[in-house]
Amino acid sequence: MCGIVGYVGKQEAYPLIIGGLRRLEYRGYDSAGVALGGEKGLRVYKRRGKVDDLETFVEKKDVTGTIGIGHTRWATHGVPDDRNAHPHLSHDASIAVVHNGIIENFRILKTDMESRGHTFLSDTDTEVVAHLIEDVRNAAGVPFPEAVRLALKEVVGAYAIAAISADDPDTLVVARKGSPLVIGIGEDEYLVASDASPIAEHTRRVVYLDDGDMAVIRCGAENPEIMAIDDGVSHSPAIREIEFKLESLAKEGYSHFMEKEIFEQPKTIRDSMRGRLNPKTGEVKLGGLSDYFNKLAEAERIVIVACGTSFYAGILGEYLIERIAGVHVEVEYASEYRYRHPLIRKGDFVFAISQSGETADTLAAIRLAKEAGAYAFGICNVVGSSIARETVAGVYTHAGPEIGVASTKAFTAQVTVLSLIALALARRRRSLPEAELLRLAKELDSVPDKVAAALETRSACRELAEDISQLRDVYYLGRGVCYPVALEGALKLKEVSYIHAEGYPAGEMKHGPIALIDENMAVVTVAPLTEVHDKILGSIQEVKARKGKVYAIVTEGDTETAALADRSVAIPQIDELFVPFVAVIPLQLISYFVAVLLGRDVDRPRNLAKSVTVE
Ligand code: F6R
Repeated sequence: MCGIVGYVGKQEAYPLIIGGLRRLEYRGYDSAGVALGGEKGLRVYKRRGKVDDLETFVEKKDVTGTIGIGHTRWATHGVPDDRNAHPHLSHDASIAVVHNGIIENFRILKTDMESRGHTFLSDTDTEVVAHLIEDVRNAAGVPFPEAVRLALKEVVGAYAIAAISADDPDTLVVARKGSPLVIGIGEDEYLVASDASPIAEHTRRVVYLDDGDMAVIRCGAENPEIMAIDDGVSHSPAIREIEFKLESLAKEGYSHFMEKEIFEQPKTIRDSMRGRLNPKTGEVKLGGLSDYFNKLAEAERIVIVACGTSFYAGILGEYLIERIAGVHVEVEYASEYRYRHPLIRKGDFVFAISQSGETADTLAAIRLAKEAGAYAFGICNVVGSSIARETVAGVYTHAGPEIGVASTKAFTAQVTVLSLIALALARRRRSLPEAELLRLAKELDSVPDKVAAALETRSACRELAEDISQLRDVYYLGRGVCYPVALEGALKLKEVSYIHAEGYPAGEMKHGPIALIDENMAVVTVAPLTEVHDKILGSIQEVKARKGKVYAIVTEGDTETAALADRSVAIPQIDELFVPFVAVIPLQLISYFVAVLLGRDVDRPRNLAKSVTVE
């Protein structure tokens, strides 16, 4: 949700900032802008649209300077236009600020400053911060970095900000509270960004700024000066190495990141299991949970909180953990959990599932659980992310950077980790016979190969996508473990193609939605062989009886179901519990191809952002 980049050093800042913004465009792409500082004073260029539009706009403009900040926006306050694009300037135009997050008390601050003669040029909450820094600097007579700190003490809300000042042209100030910020330390230069992807090609040494901290970054200084926003007390930075490989940030011959990430899944699922599952003995080792595993194994219930695709992975976690380990699981939308006054008991186990590790609702849910005395665990993809750091223990999914806004490989990696947790708990709790656990471990180990085989449905999915691309509405039906798969299939289709799609438990159709079935309605039925297969056949018949079109995902060799459907895609046979891994693949491919056929911006669908750091 908005991407921030900043640079201070000896090179020209502009190309580095633009390169960084391109990497962060997945976080928001309503508008983009840069502010450049140095000897020539502050210059701000910003434009509605994508980074390409900004580049066209600045052609022939003076973009020199060895310090600067940049922003790519996902609008919260104010429509996406040139005026509301970041960076924003202070009243006297001496300070430029970019911001990711929401300033909750901006109206009060704005009204107060307006009464004292400030005029604002945008509708954003961010502009208020730029004005406030100037206000504090003038009133308190303090240097620019201290003015930023004192101003932020008056701000309520969530933010990551980067600011530069014409009066202090070698200093970049960044701060975070609730939104991520990473500082890359190079040779005589620093590059800051909302995540490590813009930094990785310049340096591997980074500091993940802690919540409530700010950094004063001076050209030529050996390290950034890190301090708490609250009291200004400095502490030494914890310098870490970036873990992912640079290649993971490139499309590597694929047309889109979404396509690449779908096809990467045999590898990413294997990476999620690596060193954790021993298929010969059935043993599972989850180092990140080891300190708490004994307690977890005695849990009476586990609560999972998550949003979107991660929530659907959570529902699969519920099926897997209850069926394999016999532990009661409740799955909650994090956005509801935080406001519904949930009953959390001291010693409860609450897992947050989040690809980005930055989702505001999921983070808030986990904080609530912690305050109530629960053990908060994380299942995250992004190393060092807020949720990973605010939970006492957890498991990284190791899917590598997911750049396509629609989540694909992160989902299957989350389900892999949940399967591992279920198997680990089952062994400890002896909830299934040893031989059955060994069989399931071997079956889980076979998932990457089965997913590779499921990817061979590519051409069939492309053909089916032609049909679906003509439709206005599509139902996705599933039952048992295939119900969350249907939900995920519908979410994928609507996100990237903008076709209306609803995921539904097949058995619920007759309780209302069947009223919508006629010859214009199509139903994608996730119908591989499971214990509820007969029931799914019944649902297909009900749709057909009302002249609805049926597209079915079937198990290879199941000619009976294939014959009932108007079109079908056959996936490899696998144990019922792991069917979702292979069943979701054609649904991802279909959504991808529909989006391509309709000419959608596949990797950056409208109105979305990769990391939802606002409520
Ligand atoms: C769907 C999608 C979103 C995310 C949701 C949670 O393709 O990407 O629904 O799953 O915003 O995000 P994380 O997992 O980062 O917490």
